[in-house]
Amino acid sequence: MWRGRVYFGDNLHVLQTLPTESVDLIYIDPPFNTGKQQRYTALRTVRSESGDRVGFGGNRYRTLTLGSRSFIDIFDDYLAFLEPRLQEAYRVLAPHGSLYFHIDYREAHYCKVLLDAIFGRACFLNEIIWAYDYGGRPRRKWPPKHDTILLYVKDPDRYVFNPDAIDRVPYMAPALVGAEKARRGKLPTDVWWHTIVPTNGRERVGYPTQKPLGILRRIIRASSHPEHLVLDFFAGSGTTGVAALELGRRFILVDNNPEAIEVMQKRFHGWDGIEWLEVEAIQS
Ligand SMILES: C[S@@+](CC[C@H](N)C(=O)[O-])C[C@H]1O[C@@H](n2cnc3c(N)ncnc32)[C@H](O)[C@@H]1O
Repeated sequence: MWRGRVYFGDNLHVLQTLPTESVDLIYIDPPFNTGKQQRYTALRTVRSESGDRVGFGGNRYRTLTLGSRSFIDIFDDYLAFLEPRLQEAYRVLAPHGSLYFHIDYREAHYCKVLLDAIFGRACFLNEIIWAYDYGGRPRRKWPPKHDTILLYVKDPDRYVFNPDAIDRVPYMAPALVGAEKARRGKLPTDVWWHTIVPTNGRERVGYPTQKPLGILRRIIRASSHPEHLVLDFFAGSGTTGVAALELGRRFILVDNNPEAIEVMQKRFHGWDGIEWLEVEAIQS
C-alpha cells in the first residue's frame, strides 16, 4: 500500500482523476498572484583571500551562488484559474473533510467570496492569521507581516477537529492563570505566531515560498486522524507530505513545476511507499 503519491502535472487534470469524497483533508498554498516570478537563490559565504568583505578575526569572505529555483506567479484572471480547481477540491473532499486555503492580503477577500459560493457560507469555520516577523519594512505603510488561511468544512455538523492533539502555546500573561495552566500552555487562537522557515536553517530545502512544517503539523493534527489521506495540489517543496508522513497520515501531492518535483525527490529520499506519477501516465 502506498503512503504517498506525488504527481507531476497540472493539478486540474490530476484532480479530475481522483474519486469523489476520497480525501480527508486538503491544504493548498497556491501562487498568491504577486505579479512576479517567485525565486529562491541559495547562497553560501566562504573564506577567501580575494573576498570582498572582511569578517570575524579580520578574515576575508565572499558569497557563492549555489543555484536558484523559481515559479511564475502572474495571472490575468486569478479567480478563473482557481475556481475549477476549488470545485474539484470540494468534490473530492469526504463528508467529514476540511479545506485549508493559504493566501495573502492581496487576494484573500476575493478568494473568500469564491469559497463561500462553492462551499456555502455555513461551511466557513475560521480565518486564521499566520503572523511572522521577517524581511523588509516599508516606511510608507504598516509592514504587511501575515498570511491568511481560510478554513472551510464540507459539513458543519460532522467535520474532524481534535483540540487535544493540537500543540499548545504559552499564555501571554502566565501570571494571571496560575502555575498549572501556565505550565500546560493554551490552545492557539485563530492568530498563529510562527517564524518563517529560517533562510539558513536545517528545514530550508531551497524552494521559493516554502512554508514551515510547524504550520502544517498543526493543521494536520487538528483536522485529520492517523491513516487519513491529505491532499495538497499546489505542493511546491512537499511540506504537506513531510508533515503527513511524520504524523502517520497518507498524502497526495501535485505540482506542475519540474523544479518542485526535483526538490521533493530529494526531500522524500529514504522514505518507503512513495509513488511518482505523471499526468500522462494516469490519463492513458
Ligand atoms: C506557493 S507554492 C507552494 C509552496 C509549498 N506550500 C511549500 O511549502 O513548498 C505554489 C506551487 O504551485 C505550483 N503550481 C502553480 N500552478 C499549478 C498548477 N496548475 N498545477 C500544479 N501546480 C501548480 C507552483 O509550481 C508552485 O510550486
